[in-house]
Amino acid sequence: MKKQTSFALLVLLAFGATTLMSTIAQVKKGKTRPLTTEQLMAAIVKPHMTALKKGLVDSKPASDEDWEKLALSVSLLNESSFIMMEDGRCPDQVWADACVKDLREGSASAAAAIAKKDVDAALAGVKQLSASCKACHTKHKE
Ligand code: HEC
Repeated sequence: MKKQTSFALLVLLAFGATTLMSTIAQVKKGKTRPLTTEQLMAAIVKPHMTALKKGLVDSKPASDEDWEKLALSVSLLNESSFIMMEDGRCPDQVWADACVKDLREGSASAAAAIAKKDVDAALAGVKQLSASCKACHTKHKE
């Protein structure tokens, strides 16, 4: 192999490795902020997803307090979709679509339905937002 060719190959390999490493780092944590993806999932995304399922699927909201709890959970899930798209976290289109098309749009429509106390529309929004978990995890969760 010519010296020039092997040098070019080396540069290409080094570039590939760096790109791959920074992709992994982005998925687990943003570039500058301390919050890890694992912390975000464990502290916000999972508990509020569970709260939505309990409050809308397993039982139906009966009091104003029940609706307020649902409003809080769905808003925090919506907010998570913004956090996950910031600070250089987003590595690709799969991640972006899961965050924006599923999690953000689904939670926004569920939030609007919850504000109107419309259980069926809220469930449709929750179904849409919950598709984000599988879509993103299939590619990005080890
Ligand atoms: C845009 C991508 C993305 C979306 C959307 C997403 N997750 Fe995650 N999730 C991850 C990644 C990446 C990890 C692995 C983080 C790690 O181990 O560093 C993870 C890990 C988790 C974990 C394990 C946390 C732990 O303590 O180890 C749970 C639970 C979880 N996600 C729940 C959810 C639920 C529920 C949803 C949907 C409402 C969701 N996730 C949506 C990317 C996503």
